[in-house]
Amino acid sequence: MGTAAKPAVWISRPTFPEVIARLEPHFRVSAEPGEVKFAPAELAAKLAGCDAAIVGLKEHVGAAELAGAKRLRIVANLAVGYDNLDLAALGAAGIAASNTADVLNESVADYAWALLLGAARRMGAAERWLRAGQWQATEFKGWLGTDVRGRTLGILGMGRIGQAVARRAQGFGMPVLYHNRSRLPEAIERECRARYVDKATLLRESDCLVLVLPLTPETRHAIGAAELAQMKPTAVLVNVARGGIMDDAALAAALREGRLAAAGLDVFEGEPNVHPDLLALDNVLLSPHIASATTDTRRAMTAVAVDNVLAFFGHGPHAGHPPNLLNPEALAAAGVTFPPHQELT
Ligand code: DGY
Repeated sequence: MGTAAKPAVWISRPTFPEVIARLEPHFRVSAEPGEVKFAPAELAAKLAGCDAAIVGLKEHVGAAELAGAKRLRIVANLAVGYDNLDLAALGAAGIAASNTADVLNESVADYAWALLLGAARRMGAAERWLRAGQWQATEFKGWLGTDVRGRTLGILGMGRIGQAVARRAQGFGMPVLYHNRSRLPEAIERECRARYVDKATLLRESDCLVLVLPLTPETRHAIGAAELAQMKPTAVLVNVARGGIMDDAALAAALREGRLAAAGLDVFEGEPNVHPDLLALDNVLLSPHIASATTDTRRAMTAVAVDNVLAFFGHGPHAGHPPNLLNPEALAAAGVTFPPHQELT
């Protein structure tokens, strides 16, 4: 295949060298060298100029951004969550969408625990205090936090990440409750040592509550003022899923007024902007959406996105069967088929 005939792939985020090496035999590759926040018109122009796009969460791909993307065949999201993609618009245009399910489960679960422990033990505020030179003497009754071991862990959203969070609770001797759209098979409940309860019971009984829900119209503000009012004032709340699941203003009010002990947040409504009321509080540990950010996991996520793009165009180990398609029915309805294995020429 001559260079001119190669399809073009655009990668919206700085990437790893092996990604370019895998794509280059089959594609003309253009990868952004730095982090850019594209305006909708800029994103539309990028999408109009490629046959495949590998994008991240800050690229919101909807009907307007797709209007001129006549060559675009697949958008591979560098995330398991895909609330940044308008699947209806992509499907209507016959454009495939994929995500990076599974490869980040363990790293995100680890990070949920880091936030839980960090928030319960006040690590963020204590570190800021130390760095500010305020440590004059060790205070026996200073910086008292909350133990999590032996307490009840609640998980809202019991997909694979929620299950990975639950499995870690065994090491802390914590009974696990969960609520999910649908109850899990008994074998998984047994393996996770998790008990299904309704949402009200979960809110009422959890000492530590971890949110691992996808953001959809149904889950927006799944935790708001009414839900926070049902929680124990001693509880610690963690969100590693998506901003928007939580009403951040209501959370800040609960934390400020002592109706909730502490929170650990990796995601925010309107990120990268963070609600100013949260920034003003010491009983919330904040991080900039980094739960999946380990070198191995980000490499694995990128490899999955590349697998899907290669497979869509008939290359690589999954040729003809992109493994993480989000909209196969829409593609079938639009008559989109995937070429089987294509030889390099
Ligand atoms: C995801 O994969 O959805 C994460 O939030 C990205 O880090």
